Amino acid sequence: MRRVISLIDMDCFYAQVEQRDNPALWDQPVIVVQHSRQGVEGGILAVSYEARPFGVKRGMSVADAKLKCPQINVCHVPIGEYADKADIQKYRDASAEVFRVLNNFDTSIIVEKASVDEAFLDLTTYTNERLEELRENGNLEEFTAIEHLPTTFLATGEDVKENDHLREQMLTDFITGSLHSTENILLLIAACTVEAIRDRIHEETQFYCSAGVGNNKMMAKLVCARHKPRQQTLIPWVYVREILRTTPIGDVRGFGGKLGNRVQELLNITLMGEILEIDYSLLVESFPDQHEYLIAIAQGMCDEPVRPRKESSSIAVSKNFPGKLAIRTIQELRKWLDGLTKELAKRLWTDQNENKRTAENLVYSLLTEEGKPQKTLKINNYHPDVLFGQIWAAIKVLNRSNLANSEQGPWTPPILNISLSASRFQPGIPAATRSIKEFLGEKKRRKWVRQHAVYDENDGRADVIIEEPPPPKTPAASKPSTSTIGSVEYIVIDDSDEETAPPPPPKSTTNIDYITVDGKKISKKVFRNLPPEIKKQYEHRIALEEARLLKAKSDAKNSRKRAGPIKSDVQKTKKPKPLDSFFKKKT
Ligand code: CTP
Ligand code: CA
Ligand code: CA
Repeated sequence: MRRVISLIDMDCFYAQVEQRDNPALWDQPVIVVQHSRQGVEGGILAVSYEARPFGVKRGMSVADAKLKCPQINVCHVPIGEYADKADIQKYRDASAEVFRVLNNFDTSIIVEKASVDEAFLDLTTYTNERLEELRENGNLEEFTAIEHLPTTFLATGEDVKENDHLREQMLTDFITGSLHSTENILLLIAACTVEAIRDRIHEETQFYCSAGVGNNKMMAKLVCARHKPRQQTLIPWVYVREILRTTPIGDVRGFGGKLGNRVQELLNITLMGEILEIDYSLLVESFPDQHEYLIAIAQGMCDEPVRPRKESSSIAVSKNFPGKLAIRTIQELRKWLDGLTKELAKRLWTDQNENKRTAENLVYSLLTEEGKPQKTLKINNYHPDVLFGQIWAAIKVLNRSNLANSEQGPWTPPILNISLSASRFQPGIPAATRSIKEFLGEKKRRKWVRQHAVYDENDGRADVIIEEPPPPKTPAASKPSTSTIGSVEYIVIDDSDEETAPPPPPKSTTNIDYITVDGKKISKKVFRNLPPEIKKQYEHRIALEEARLLKAKSDAKNSRKRAGPIKSDVQKTKKPKPLDSFFKKKT
C-alpha cells in the first residue's frame, strides 16, 4: 500500500510574522533583514510575495533591494538580549503556534517538524479511516468534489503558470477518472484535508501556507514549491516520472548540496530523470555505494518515514567574529561567553518547562585559525552563573598567551566563533536545577507537591504558605519517582492526564507544625522533603528565624511582659536570587 504524505510550508514565513505584527504591511512588499553589525546592514532573510516580482531575493543587500523596489518595507530581526546577535525567538514562537494547530488537528495524523516553517504529515491512517467512513455513508463523490479543492493544482507537468486557467479542468478530469482507484481517492481525501488544515492554520494564526501532497516525503516536498503562495499541489503516482523528467537535480530534497553537484558533474546531467538514462556501469563506477539509491530517487521512490519529532535534539547558541572582529582579549571572551551562556540558559530553561526534559551534555567549541578545540561537559545545573563557571574553567586553559590564568589580558589564538550546544536530553527535571519557586510552582505537573501545598496565588513566588499534608496512604504515591543519571538525581515527571491521575486526597488542617519564613508559614515536614539544593538556600534563613523565635520566647518569659506580635526582621536578610532574575536585562 502506498503511503499518503504531505509537506506544509509557510509562505515567506519571517515576512508574514512581521506583517502580522504590523498589519499595515499585509499585501505590501516586505523584507526581513538580519540585524546590523557595527552599522552595516545585514542580508535579506525573507521576502514577501509582493516584493518578489521586483526581483528582490533572499541574500541580497538591502541597498540592492531598494534599487529594485524603492517602496520596499524593511523589517529587522530583533537583536538578542544578551549577546548582540539575532534573536529569532519571535519566529520560533510563531512556528510553535502553527505546530499547535498541526498537532491538534487529528490524532491519526503523524506530524514531523522539518524546520521552523515546515512539517511533514503522514495522512495514511487518517485518509484510510475517512475513506471507510465515506464509503459507509455513501457520500464519497461529494467529498472529493472540486469545491473542496479550491487552491489545489494537479502536478502533471502541464501545470505551469501559463496554464493556470486549466487548473479546474485538469483536476476535474483527474477526479472523474479516479473514482475506481483507491490510491487516487486517498490522495484526493488527503488534498481536501490539507486544504482544511491550511484554513485552520490561517484562522488560528493569520498565516498563509502552501503544501504538497503525494506518496512520499520527497515528492510532497518537491511539488509543494510548484504552486506558491497560498496554494497546494497534488502529485498522483502516475505523473511522478513525468515530473522528475524535467526536475533540476538540485531541486530534489537532499540534492541541493554536495551530492547533487557530484551527480551533475560526474554524470554530466542536470535533470533528475536523466539518471535513468545513464549507462548502468557508469552509474556503478561513479557511485559504487549510492547507485541504487540514485535510481530509486530518479523513479520517485523514497521510503523515509514521517517521524513524530516535535522537539529538537540539541539547543545551541553560536556567534561569529569574522576578520577584524576576532576575539583577542580575555575580557572580550568572558563578555561574549557570559552573554551566550545566559542566552543558552534562557532557552534551556524554557525548553525544560515546555518539554519536561533536561540536557545532560554541553559541548563548547572555539573556532580559531589554528583549529577548533571543543569539549563535552556534563551539565549539572542550568543556572547561567554555574554554566559560565564550568565553561570558563574548561576554556581558560586554551589561552596560549602568557597570562593564561588571569582574568584579563590578551587571548591567543584569536577566536572566530564561539558555539555552545546542549544535548542528550533526559526526561524530567533534576532537583538540583530547580529553585523553590519552580519546585513548588508547577501545580499541574507536580501533583504530589500540590497535595501538600496551598499556593499564594497573588504572587506565585517561593514564599508560599505550605500546609501539613495528610499522611499518605502509600508513601510512594505521594513522592515523585527519582532516577539517577550520572551524578544528577532527576525527578521523573508524571505526565498523565488530569482525568487518569488519582484525585488528590483532601487537605488536612490539623497538627500543623510551621516554620515561618519571610512572615509566611512552611510546614517543617514539607521542608524536610524538599530537594537538598533548595533546602540549602533556605536552611540558613530558617535557622535564623527559629533562633529569633526562641529568643523572643525566652525574652518574653524573662521580662514576664506580654510579648507583642513577633516582627520578623528576616525580611532584611538578603533573599537567594531567583533564577529568573538572571534573565532580566541589566540596565
Ligand atoms: N531562513 C533564514 N535563513 C535561511 C533560510 C531561511 O533565516 N538561510 C528563514 C527565512 O527568513 C524564512 C524561514 O526561515 O522566512 C523559512 O524559510 P523558507 O521556507 O526557505 O523560505 P520562506 O521565507 O518561508 O519563503 P517561501 O515562501 O519561499 O517558503
Ligand atoms: Ca517557507
Ligand atoms: Ca521552509
